[in-house]
Amino acid sequence: MTTVYLSDTPQDLEKAAALLRQGETVAFPTETVYGLGADARSEAAVARIFAAKGRPQDNPLIVHIACAEDLLPLVKNVSAAARVLMETYWPGPLTLIFERSDVIPAAVSGGLDTLAVRLPAHPVARELIRLCGFPVAAPSANRSGSPSPTAAAHVAQDLDGRVAAIVDGGTCGVGVESTVVDMTGEVPRVLRPGGVTVEMLREAVGEVEVDDAVVHRLAEGAKAASPGMKYKHYAPRARVVLLRGDAASCADYIRAHAEEGTGALCFDGEEQGLPVPTMTYGRREDAAAQAERVFAALREADDRGFSVLYVSCPSTDGVGLAVYNRLLRAAAFEVIELA
Ligand code: TXA
Ligand code: MG
Repeated sequence: MTTVYLSDTPQDLEKAAALLRQGETVAFPTETVYGLGADARSEAAVARIFAAKGRPQDNPLIVHIACAEDLLPLVKNVSAAARVLMETYWPGPLTLIFERSDVIPAAVSGGLDTLAVRLPAHPVARELIRLCGFPVAAPSANRSGSPSPTAAAHVAQDLDGRVAAIVDGGTCGVGVESTVVDMTGEVPRVLRPGGVTVEMLREAVGEVEVDDAVVHRLAEGAKAASPGMKYKHYAPRARVVLLRGDAASCADYIRAHAEEGTGALCFDGEEQGLPVPTMTYGRREDAAAQAERVFAALREADDRGFSVLYVSCPSTDGVGLAVYNRLLRAAAFEVIELA
């Protein structure tokens, strides 16, 4: 298929909405990453998302709505805590999981009886969903397993010829995907950390649990609360290795291990003296900058043809937990502890 390239003007958003109404797939910007949308009510439309991405059928999609009132027909049992989170952090980078009603086909949820719903803050995303007049299922707009796209060019790299259209709305401000919180149990449970931090969730509703799989490898044969967590993820072609230590110990390690094809991804201001080609992703203490830049840096590692990429390990405070969670998976959990 020939992919149509659209801008975010009203005329082009109307064209994008028309394609979605016809059951086609359209990539569009959100404040987190680009999403690949399709009509969430249509099994045939949603099947096109799975096909375009090469996504396993059991990995459920997030359904995007344009205003909070649109939630109710889609789900059952919205708890008091869920209402507080919606009032506090919607629109924004927060996805909540509820019991699914019959409005949305089971295929959207990968066969689960729950449904993940998000109200994005990005004006282009909201306007597009509003124009459609129906909920839009949208995973990140990358080929399954590769880093999430934070610019329209990343989407084109992965999905040109595989989707009906790509709407260019500039780069994504948050840079990592939304926080996913399961609201179906007694206590809200974070399945994927993101732009709304664990600290922010606790501030709004008190007790919040963080699923073990956020920072640990799932035990062999264990069932993933979030099916997406069990797949190799966010990985460039290079072997990614996380180095946990200060600037000097990271540099020492890289000097001792550098070979042909080695690259480094370190913090701004810590690149001096590294004997390999180096990219940076924000200052050591600036988790928001790291989130915004991490996926583009992993893609750049591929563009530059690195075979090994040593990455300075971020802190797990605030949105840093989301950056760490993505990098751990990109590194297939390979972390080297330095002094
Ligand atoms: O920021 C975002 O959330 C972006 C933008 C486009 O909105 N979307 C996104 O979707 O990251 P995706 O499909 O790449 O990631 C969705 C994650 C997966 O890990 C999936 O397994 C999990 O959410 N998920 C979705 N529905 C779920 C459910 N019902 N139960 C448990 N996990 C669910
Ligand atoms: Mg994804």
